[in-house]
Amino acid sequence: MEAETKSLFERIGGMPAVNAAVDIFYKKVLEDESISHFFTNTDMNIQAAKQKAFLAYAFGAPTAYTGKSLRNAHASMSLTEAHFYAVAKHLTDTLQELNVPQNLIDEVVKIALSTKNDVLNK
Ligand code: HEM
Repeated sequence: MEAETKSLFERIGGMPAVNAAVDIFYKKVLEDESISHFFTNTDMNIQAAKQKAFLAYAFGAPTAYTGKSLRNAHASMSLTEAHFYAVAKHLTDTLQELNVPQNLIDEVVKIALSTKNDVLNK
């Protein structure tokens, strides 16, 4: 019963888990030539900090997210579904590498997919 009342953020391991995941995730993104060019002019330390704040919030942490809306943040990048799924795969690969249980990964994937129309500005 207790497990069901805890947020995904708590069940996944809180801020240390989110921090570890985002650091590995962006390493993968930058190694992927199909998407790395989007980040050429990006300060990756700032970007990682924003992504940590966003994911913590999206997973139900009791923290506020004060960044841009995903729709505005990705407007005019001409992102495609292929770009989106490449990023989503790096996220799931990261969580698998960190031995996050599959049922929690499934919850993360659901949240990630729920952002697709905003990220792609559809
Ligand atoms: C699950 C999907 C995604 C989520 C949750 C996400 C999340 C975010 C967040 C929170 C920001 C920062 C917004 C701010 O500046 O306040 C951001 C910016 C950005 N995202 Fe995403 N994103 C996603 C997909 C993608 C994809 C598919 C790409 C490209 C392949 C991408 C490329 C970028 C770039 C280039 C920036 C701006 C970096 C800069 O300011 O220089 N994102 N994203």
